[in-house]
Amino acid sequence: MEKPKNCVLIIFGASGDLTERKLVPALFELRNQNLLPDNFMILGTGRTKLDDFQFREKMKNSLIANSVDKLTENKFSSKISDEFLQNMFYHSIDPKSQDDYLLLKKRIEMLSLEQKDGSNYIFYLATPPILYGIIAANIGAVGLNDQSGGYHKLIIEKPFGYDLESAIELNKKLHGVFIEDQIYRIDHYLGKETVQNLLVTRFSNGIFEPLWNRNFVHHVEITSAESLGVENRGGYYDSAGALRDMVQNHLLQLVGLTAMEPPSSFDSNSIRNETMKVFQALRHIPENEVGKFVIRGQYTASKVRGESIAGYREEKGVGSDSRTETYVAIKFFIDNWRWGGVPFYIRTGKRLPTRVTEIVIHFKSTPHNIFAKESECFRGNQLVIRIQPDEGILLKFGMKIPGTGFNVKSVNMDFHYSDLSNVHVPSAYERLLYDAMIGDSTLYTRGDSVEAAWKFVAPIQNAWKNNPAIKVYGYPAGSWGPEDADSLIEGDNLTWRYPCKNLSDDGAYCEL
Ligand code: BG6
Repeated sequence: MEKPKNCVLIIFGASGDLTERKLVPALFELRNQNLLPDNFMILGTGRTKLDDFQFREKMKNSLIANSVDKLTENKFSSKISDEFLQNMFYHSIDPKSQDDYLLLKKRIEMLSLEQKDGSNYIFYLATPPILYGIIAANIGAVGLNDQSGGYHKLIIEKPFGYDLESAIELNKKLHGVFIEDQIYRIDHYLGKETVQNLLVTRFSNGIFEPLWNRNFVHHVEITSAESLGVENRGGYYDSAGALRDMVQNHLLQLVGLTAMEPPSSFDSNSIRNETMKVFQALRHIPENEVGKFVIRGQYTASKVRGESIAGYREEKGVGSDSRTETYVAIKFFIDNWRWGGVPFYIRTGKRLPTRVTEIVIHFKSTPHNIFAKESECFRGNQLVIRIQPDEGILLKFGMKIPGTGFNVKSVNMDFHYSDLSNVHVPSAYERLLYDAMIGDSTLYTRGDSVEAAWKFVAPIQNAWKNNPAIKVYGYPAGSWGPEDADSLIEGDNLTWRYPCKNLSDDGAYCEL
């Protein structure tokens, strides 16, 4: 594996949750794999007043709590950990104050003095989104965007904008300071190993491509379910909702990779051009049809496995009359030659029965079923690409039940990542941080495709805003969402797959 050039990673919002739970543990794991540059420094910044020692202590505690291998104090006091922590620094700033950036610049320059590969900087914005434009402008104002002495990159967390207009506005602001190649927009789903494997499954196996189109695929179903509620993020979530929080980014990225044409080569622009074409071909749902094609819901109080679960409106930070959706299901089409007429059904929600993300390709049935009388259990071939948990792939096909007659049963052919022993499956942030360091933006979203995704979502947002008569259906916490979402798919004589924790099970035999 390529070793990245020496660099300084400057984290804005370094005293926040994301830094502690995701970024620093991922960087530590990269250090353990020897995939960080030889000379790598982290400079945390934020309004909280901390000195280097306090910051290191805070990061050490969070590493012990959050590291992939659940480090013990013992393992942690190794040489690697000491060296990792010694290369962490902290500089307190008010991110809105331009004056503070002059001192910040000096500090960064001091840290990079020892680096032999030039002054390479990565700025990671782990702050509230409202600050993205301001921080970028202030970085530019003190010349920290200038790449004459080394590369200077900006990594930006989602949400990227609040709607189409704000995303365009943010892109404009960023492009006023950085060129597109310097900007790395995170969608952590693209960092998931199984999401990347979707590309490998499709484009390294000759058997799928001939079937991967309207001639053989009946419909595509994508589910991203969570069993947790909004936890302590009620304040943020109530102004976002599932459409902005999950659909505009993670789910549409999965749609893009599932539906894209084979790229001519495996480089970031070829891949991203192809997903962009999918976004451009998404048939926008007219505002007056949103009620028919989009179902939104909100979880209500319920008992799940004996435990009382609060309804969404009782969550901290959520208004008691909130109409924010915690569940969305959408039926839509992709208007191109490959997918013309094939319905895509996507759904996501909080407080569903289990945490599962998967893509299901439902193939068309045989043109004439000669075993129809005895085959009630078999509904056609399905290819299930499981993103999480029990990561893997499953093909469902019909097989004769041994014995008299010709009874056909659905059986599984499956592969589980857990069967690969001794293979380290990197976390999404490990992969994405490493890629940014080596300058590979394949798994980051490009400005134009973020805007194209917002364009698809915009009529839904507008319809909900302009037409309060479109219902927010309640669904009991722990259920599979509103019944009307079942009707969305059942109206086409289909049903959702009811996935379980284990890839091979579904429906009635579920371990959740
Ligand atoms: C985040 C959303 O982007 O993705 C969260 O803001 C959601 O609301 C999370 O819980 C889901 O990510 P994962 O990796 O747990 O599927």
